[in-house]
Amino acid sequence: MPMITYVQAGDGSEATVEVKDGLSVMDGSIANNLPGIVAECGGSCSCATCHVYVDEAFRELFGAASEEEWELLEFLDEVQPNSRLSCQLVVTAAADGLRVVVPENQG
Ligand code: FES
Repeated sequence: MPMITYVQAGDGSEATVEVKDGLSVMDGSIANNLPGIVAECGGSCSCATCHVYVDEAFRELFGAASEEEWELLEFLDEVQPNSRLSCQLVVTAAADGLRVVVPENQG
Protein backbone atom coordinates (compact mmCIF):
# COMPACT_ATOMS: atom_id res chain seq x y z
CA MET A 1 0.00 0.00 0.00
CA PRO A 2 1.34 3.48 -0.80
CA MET A 3 2.89 5.36 2.11
CA ILE A 4 2.15 9.08 2.28
CA THR A 5 3.74 11.63 4.58
CA TYR A 6 1.70 14.57 5.85
CA VAL A 7 3.78 17.46 7.16
CA GLN A 8 2.12 20.12 9.32
CA ALA A 9 3.36 23.55 8.24
CA GLY A 10 2.52 24.97 11.66
CA ASP A 11 4.84 22.91 13.84
CA GLY A 12 6.75 20.84 11.29
CA SER A 13 5.45 17.55 12.68
CA GLU A 14 5.09 14.65 10.25
CA ALA A 15 3.07 11.48 10.05
CA THR A 16 3.61 8.74 7.48
CA VAL A 17 0.62 6.49 6.93
CA GLU A 18 -0.60 3.85 4.49
CA VAL A 19 -3.30 5.03 2.11
CA LYS A 20 -5.17 2.49 0.01
CA ASP A 21 -5.18 2.79 -3.79
CA GLY A 22 -8.27 4.60 -4.99
CA LEU A 23 -8.68 6.72 -1.89
CA SER A 24 -7.81 10.42 -2.01
CA VAL A 25 -4.96 12.09 -0.17
CA MET A 26 -7.69 13.79 1.90
CA ASP A 27 -9.25 10.41 2.77
CA GLY A 28 -5.86 9.20 4.00
CA SER A 29 -5.58 12.09 6.42
CA ILE A 30 -9.13 11.77 7.76
CA ALA A 31 -8.95 7.98 8.11
CA ASN A 32 -5.83 8.33 10.24
CA ASN A 33 -7.16 11.21 12.35
CA LEU A 34 -4.37 13.51 11.27
CA PRO A 35 -4.67 17.23 12.03
CA GLY A 36 -4.89 20.03 9.49
CA ILE A 37 -7.13 18.80 6.70
CA VAL A 38 -10.71 19.69 7.59
CA ALA A 39 -12.58 18.50 4.47
CA GLU A 40 -15.85 20.23 5.31
CA CYS A 41 -17.56 19.18 2.07
CA GLY A 42 -16.49 15.56 2.37
CA GLY A 43 -14.55 15.56 -0.88
CA SER A 44 -16.94 17.09 -3.38
CA CYS A 45 -14.56 19.90 -4.41
CA SER A 46 -16.64 22.70 -2.96
CA CYS A 47 -15.03 23.87 0.29
CA ALA A 48 -11.22 24.19 -0.16
CA THR A 49 -10.56 23.10 3.43
CA CYS A 50 -8.39 20.23 2.23
CA HIS A 51 -5.61 22.40 0.80
CA VAL A 52 -2.12 20.90 0.61
CA TYR A 53 1.18 21.62 -1.10
CA VAL A 54 2.34 18.70 -3.24
CA ASP A 55 5.99 17.70 -3.42
CA GLU A 56 7.54 18.80 -6.74
CA ALA A 57 8.47 15.23 -7.65
CA PHE A 58 4.82 14.17 -7.54
CA ARG A 59 3.10 17.11 -9.19
CA GLU A 60 2.93 15.50 -12.63
CA LEU A 61 1.58 12.26 -11.24
CA PHE A 62 -1.69 13.92 -10.32
CA GLY A 63 -2.00 15.95 -13.53
CA ALA A 64 -3.29 19.49 -13.63
CA ALA A 65 -5.99 20.78 -11.33
CA SER A 66 -9.41 21.00 -12.94
CA GLU A 67 -10.97 24.38 -13.59
CA GLU A 68 -13.41 23.74 -10.74
CA GLU A 69 -10.51 23.04 -8.35
CA TRP A 70 -8.54 26.13 -9.40
CA GLU A 71 -11.57 28.34 -8.95
CA LEU A 72 -11.46 27.40 -5.25
CA LEU A 73 -7.68 27.46 -4.89
CA GLU A 74 -7.16 30.90 -6.37
CA PHE A 75 -9.09 32.55 -3.55
CA LEU A 76 -6.92 31.07 -0.80
CA ASP A 77 -4.46 33.48 0.84
CA GLU A 78 -1.74 30.85 1.00
CA VAL A 79 -2.05 29.52 -2.56
CA GLN A 80 1.21 28.49 -4.27
CA PRO A 81 1.98 26.91 -7.66
CA ASN A 82 2.02 23.44 -6.05
CA SER A 83 -1.27 23.94 -4.19
CA ARG A 84 -3.92 21.26 -4.64
CA LEU A 85 -7.14 20.23 -2.99
CA SER A 86 -6.26 16.88 -1.47
CA CYS A 87 -9.73 15.43 -2.09
CA GLN A 88 -8.94 15.63 -5.81
CA LEU A 89 -5.70 13.65 -5.55
CA VAL A 90 -6.44 9.98 -6.10
CA VAL A 91 -3.83 7.65 -4.66
CA THR A 92 -2.25 4.96 -6.84
CA ALA A 93 0.79 2.75 -6.28
CA ALA A 94 2.88 5.46 -7.96
CA ALA A 95 2.06 7.81 -5.09
CA ASP A 96 4.19 5.76 -2.70
CA GLY A 97 6.60 8.13 -0.95
CA LEU A 98 4.48 11.23 -1.55
CA ARG A 99 4.94 14.11 0.88
CA VAL A 100 2.34 16.82 1.23
CA VAL A 101 2.58 19.91 3.40
CA VAL A 102 -0.63 20.90 5.14
CA PRO A 103 -0.90 24.69 5.57
CA GLU A 104 -1.55 26.07 9.03
CA ASN A 105 -4.90 27.55 8.02
CA GLN A 106 -7.61 26.00 5.86
CA GLY A 107 -10.23 27.82 3.83
FE1 FES B 1 -13.97 20.03 0.25
FE2 FES B 1 -11.75 18.98 -0.77
S1 FES B 1 -12.88 18.29 0.95
S2 FES B 1 -12.86 20.69 -1.46
